[in-house]
Amino acid sequence: MPARPLAERYPRAFITGASSGLGAAFTTRLLAEGVEVWGTARDASRLPARPGFHPVSLDLAQGDDAAAAFTQAQTEAGGFDLVINNAGYGVFGPVESQPFPVWAAQLDALLTQTLRLSLLALPAMRARGHGALVNISSLAVEFPIPGMSGYNAAKAGLSAWSLSLAYELAGTGVSVVDFRPGDFRTPFNTAVVQSPGTSQPSAPRWARVWRRFEAMHDVAPAVDVAAEDLVRALHRGRSGIVRSGSFFQARLAPLLARLGSEPLRRAIQARYFDLR
Ligand SMILES: NC(=O)c1ccc[n+]([C@@H]2O[C@H](COP(=O)([O-])OP(=O)(O)OC[C@H]3O[C@@H](n4cnc5c(N)ncnc54)[C@H](OP(=O)(O)O)[C@@H]3O)[C@@H](O)[C@H]2O)c1
Repeated sequence: MPARPLAERYPRAFITGASSGLGAAFTTRLLAEGVEVWGTARDASRLPARPGFHPVSLDLAQGDDAAAAFTQAQTEAGGFDLVINNAGYGVFGPVESQPFPVWAAQLDALLTQTLRLSLLALPAMRARGHGALVNISSLAVEFPIPGMSGYNAAKAGLSAWSLSLAYELAGTGVSVVDFRPGDFRTPFNTAVVQSPGTSQPSAPRWARVWRRFEAMHDVAPAVDVAAEDLVRALHRGRSGIVRSGSFFQARLAPLLARLGSEPLRRAIQARYFDLR
């Protein structure tokens, strides 16, 4: 039997970070499926006008304003069937090299404000007995990225939140997808906040890690792969973890992390990032 069209299942979607990378690919794919999309950027002029697309200005660093922007879009749409929390950025450098506000802002944007948007979206979905909440987490949950402690912590928290929520929403018709991409070729690295710590005595080590990080992104899969995996997950309509990326990152490495020992996981990580 042919799958029910996505636009019938999820006629109206909201997605954060629609201006670039994965979010732009998800948006393009949803629009092609006939879904009406409200998509965000901090500067909405970065969002090209397209049929069925509604640009929204939203900055996760301004929590109250972001919540208000979401609520306004939700009222305009008459409730969302699909909400994708995708927007994000990283901070790179040793823990002690950044002042507390930088880490606090990283956790707030990636975790706290993301949870806030979910809370605002859920009542309408619950009332209709239908909907999907997709939180874009990361393979960093299973393989923390060296030098990105705040990012790793926020994504681990986001995955834990998604899985907890999935238990609570079982039987309501609302699904929660903990989407964990491996590396994808996006401008993510160009937006990373670089720590001044990379110019301190430990710098060569961090410079090597960063080079590896960049090299991996250069050869990473194109974003269409993630969009395809997301659409497949939405068709399934079930809560759970969805991994996306190269065969090694999306299949083999998580399997090794589950079956192997902690020293093995650390050894893979050290080799991968040239951690000496
Ligand atoms: N690329 C990867 O390898 C990879 C791997 C695992 C997970 N991820 C996750 O996938 C998501 C998308 O990343 P990407 O690779 O597509 O990166 P990207 O190309 O840099 O896109 C990031 C998006 O987030 C928005 N954004 C950044 N900071 C924001 C803020 N403070 N408030 C609101 N919006 C903000 C950006 O919009 P504006 O700058 O226009 O405001 C942009 O649309 C992120 O959550 C990232 O952690 C990426």
